Amino acid sequence: MVALNLGAGMLRSFKKRVEVKLSDLKGFFYDHEAVVKTLSGGRDLLIYEYYENPQPEIEGNLNFGVTIINPGKVGIEYYMTRGHYHAKQHAAEIYVGLKGEGMVIMQTKGGQLAHMPIRRNDAIYIPAFWAHRTVNVSSTELAFLYAYPSGAGHDYDVIKHKGFAKLVVERQGQPKVIANPRFIKG
Ligand code: F6R
Ligand code: MN
Repeated sequence: MVALNLGAGMLRSFKKRVEVKLSDLKGFFYDHEAVVKTLSGGRDLLIYEYYENPQPEIEGNLNFGVTIINPGKVGIEYYMTRGHYHAKQHAAEIYVGLKGEGMVIMQTKGGQLAHMPIRRNDAIYIPAFWAHRTVNVSSTELAFLYAYPSGAGHDYDVIKHKGFAKLVVERQGQPKVIANPRFIKG
């Protein structure tokens, strides 16, 4: 049994910690030049990390953990996760906001789009077949709990090559959801 420490926005214990740095996110942020420029200065940055208690990939099991996204921007785009479809697309997921403020953007291969805020105590149901990405629009860490079927797997390639239809950017100091001019449908 693993308990959550909701107040601290963290698991009480975890088996796995994954760091995702700017160098892992090449091809995901809109402003490639800003990514290359930062990296060529010899600087890599921790964009987000997740702490997980993975379970054996047996039907019925759930993986759960906490993702923490740092505050910051690449160009005008806020720090965010890569985003993915589940490899087994019929796998849904639940997110629960623990701290900070963000936005979850979602889309289907058929062209449906959605986005919604995630803050402390917000629960978000990500239905099967929906790609999902989380964006930190605040000036502090964004932390959320997630739980999904342990055998779901992650498909990052579609997102890397086609992108998300919407980007979350800062305009006049405020987060704004705008169309991604480079998005490829499907
Ligand atoms: C699991 C899930 C979250 C994300 C995590 C990092 O299916 O949706 O745990 O994995 O927020 O995002 P990605 O996996 O897109 O790098
Ligand atoms: Mn997922």
